Amino acid sequence: MKKRVIIDTDPGLDDALAILFALGCGKFDVLGLTTIAGNIGLERTTANAGGLLAVMGRGDIPVVRGTDIPLTRELQDLVAIVHGADGLKGVMLPEPLAAPLDDAPGWIARVLAEADPGSVDILALGPLTNVAHVLTEHPEVADRIGEIIVMGGTIHEPGNSGPNSEFNFASDPEAASVVIGSSAKVTIIPLDVTRKVRAQADYVEALPDTPHGRLARELLTAYLQDGRQSRPLHDPCVMLVALDPSLFKIENMKLDIDLGDDPDAGRLLVDRRGKLVDVALGVDTERALALLRTGFE
Ligand code: RIB
Ligand code: CA
Repeated sequence: MKKRVIIDTDPGLDDALAILFALGCGKFDVLGLTTIAGNIGLERTTANAGGLLAVMGRGDIPVVRGTDIPLTRELQDLVAIVHGADGLKGVMLPEPLAAPLDDAPGWIARVLAEADPGSVDILALGPLTNVAHVLTEHPEVADRIGEIIVMGGTIHEPGNSGPNSEFNFASDPEAASVVIGSSAKVTIIPLDVTRKVRAQADYVEALPDTPHGRLARELLTAYLQDGRQSRPLHDPCVMLVALDPSLFKIENMKLDIDLGDDPDAGRLLVDRRGKLVDVALGVDTERALALLRTGFE
């Protein structure tokens, strides 16, 4: 039985790998890619999502444009350093096979309303603005979501946005607070885990010689371009948790989000008054990378 998922994403090199894995591993029924501004602007993330579906010949899967401004705050200056001005550090994709749809939150709500309760999971790979809009504007579907698995936050690791905040949550702290505080089942995959699942040159070279394996190799080579020995596979960890949670050490924690205005806005706060959520804090890196490889065969 394939896992029915909506992937909310800001591709982005690691998002692209996660999407290629989800499409290539044969274990997900991807209902749609909903896009968000994050690693790069909304037009680019939407075009990149369409290009990834085109590479895989999946014109049947819709791309649905989301929002390009945070729930309440001003849009942050987009930091294109890691992913480059096109979001994929120059990796070329084909033109999308179809024009994107609009109104990602409304589209997600309709999919959830029409599906059996609990049968669709949301895999969130970027800032949580779209998902927060679903929960606030369509509260009637909140309890129809199977699970929201989110790449974001950090518990013990230093941040990659503020000193203690992670990019996806720092991009829209209010949205992260709405999602974590919602009635939906939420699992968070923080930097504590994603920084342990790393691609190195030998892993990249050993990827299968298939069309999407070659594209994955191109994306990872671009991701390693700045001379680092390895790069963290943040977003693919969401798909790996969805497929095989036994790869991870998952703990229950009561969490909240720092909604202040300092550089740590969006920081995860361990707070006994917070919402009880599952948090992945450990990972069997070798098994995780082996499972990831199967998505490119
Ligand atoms: O902090 C890592 C997250 O921010 C990943 O989702 C990456 O794609 C960027 O969006
Ligand atoms: Ca992302």
